[in-house]
Amino acid sequence: MPKTYMIGNWKMNQSLKDIDAFFSELKLENNQNNFWISPQAIHIPKCLEWGAKTGVLIGAQNCSDQEQGAYTGEISTDSLMELGAHFTLIGHSERRSYYAESDKFINSKTKKAIEKGLVPVLCIGETLEEREAGKTFDIVLGQLKAGLTNVLLNNESELIIAYEPVWAIGTGKTATPEQAGEVHDKIRELLQELYGETGAEISILYGGSVKPGNVTELLAQTNINGGLVGGASLQAESFTQLCAACIN
Ligand code: PGA
Repeated sequence: MPKTYMIGNWKMNQSLKDIDAFFSELKLENNQNNFWISPQAIHIPKCLEWGAKTGVLIGAQNCSDQEQGAYTGEISTDSLMELGAHFTLIGHSERRSYYAESDKFINSKTKKAIEKGLVPVLCIGETLEEREAGKTFDIVLGQLKAGLTNVLLNNESELIIAYEPVWAIGTGKTATPEQAGEVHDKIRELLQELYGETGAEISILYGGSVKPGNVTELLAQTNINGGLVGGASLQAESFTQLCAACIN
């Protein structure tokens, strides 16, 4: 069975004060190293201090595909590893749309992260226009194939996939469990084609307006193995409830 994760994507939110309040109010039970937070990069060291006290693993929202050198504004995978970061989001739809990240670039970052031992949480998802045009599977599976080109895995814990329909992110419009479930089933099929038995064990998270009120029915779908959560991960109370819904 794939492991169930709850990952908070804080995006460009939370002050230092907010971070202290969040972690001091968080109450986690049955922690299997499956509760993760990705703060703004500049806050990673502070969150790592809290992570050591609470058992939450900390990661980045993005990383460079380059080793090191003249890449102003970028964050290297080596630096993230040196700090103690555990993972990085890659290819979030906000990066694809606002910063024009291509599938090729996303693939290159995915490879670099895995090479360095950082777990990539590879994000894929269709826009509303694409869904309405009946292209959901083509887009999502196309992004997945492109993102995983020449990506080799030793085991399932080296990679996480997050399916996030763009129209459900930050909109309050969640995909129904059935809508999400059918896409997750297709993603699972492709992962098994690509990675055989390992593909059956890779966790596939759903993201897009996940909240305490809808998480249980989403997690009840066979191939939904957790959540990638924006808005509802910012408050300790709701993140606590989301984590409590994860059963491993
Ligand atoms: P949301 O964001 O939960 O606020 O919809 C999800 C995400 O962008 O990862």
